[in-house]
Amino acid sequence: MAQRIDVKDLNIYYGDFRAVADVEMSVEPRSVTAFIGPSGCGKSTFLRTLNRMHEVIPGARVEGRVEIDGVDLYAPDVDPVAVRRQIGMVFQRPNPFPTMSIADNVLAGVRLNNRRISKGDAQDLVEQSLRGANLWNEVKDRLDRPGSGLSGGQQQRLCIARAIAVKPQVLLMDEPCSALDPISTLAIEDLISELKADYTIVIVTHNMQQAARVSDRTAFFNLAGQGQPGKLVEVDDTSVIFSAPREQATEDYISGRFG
Ligand SMILES: Nc1ncnc2c1ncn2[C@@H]1O[C@H](COP(=O)(O)OP(=O)(O)OP(=O)(O)O)[C@@H](O)[C@H]1O
Ligand SMILES: [Mg+2]
Repeated sequence: MAQRIDVKDLNIYYGDFRAVADVEMSVEPRSVTAFIGPSGCGKSTFLRTLNRMHEVIPGARVEGRVEIDGVDLYAPDVDPVAVRRQIGMVFQRPNPFPTMSIADNVLAGVRLNNRRISKGDAQDLVEQSLRGANLWNEVKDRLDRPGSGLSGGQQQRLCIARAIAVKPQVLLMDEPCSALDPISTLAIEDLISELKADYTIVIVTHNMQQAARVSDRTAFFNLAGQGQPGKLVEVDDTSVIFSAPREQATEDYISGRFG
């Protein structure tokens, strides 16, 4: 199910502004890759190009290639809606549909994709997805209650359940724990480690300990200055990035000596 990602000579624009320049990197299937770097260096922008969410912003475009298992995401015959189904995304703020029930939230993506699904299959999918997101035991007795009645950490796991219910090949997460307490954060990190068995996962985080705990590979992005594009400084095994990075800028950033 998991797929590899190959990014080749990618430049990302908002109108005339080049926000991210010349990215080359690969992400292996069944691994977790962390994106780290200072605010504004383009982590979220780059992440959104990996499932064609970037181009929904007027004037936003990319040059270069993003290949998923060798297929160019930006080829003219590729349907961006199909891409977003294949490559799920979890955002910084948990965003369940507030009035929708917990079960319907899990099924929302599947229904948006126009998949007809029997009642029995829907129930199975709800259970399987909530178990996958480590939330089943906490909500199994209130599946018909609104998603907004859950705690922040539970809502984020509900969003992860919604993302995995469509069985994506890749899961992109943009600071999924930044609004959560330490216990919910650890629950999400455990979940990421489990999901790695089936998915290719990319996570943006400002938390160095989190990157060190959950990721196999870490990519450090940086900005040369105001108005300059963000660049990928280096990507390597997480243990290397945190112990012996090649670049001084990486060393400065991870040791907190940055700016
Ligand atoms: N919708 C947009 N329109 C124009 N410019 C944008 C837009 N979104 C982001 N940018 C610009 O692109 C650059 C990269 O922003 P991005 O949000 O990707 O950074 P980031 O690394 O995710 O930062 P943070 O750590 O604060 O989330 C910044 O200069 C930002 O101002
Ligand atoms: Mg961001």
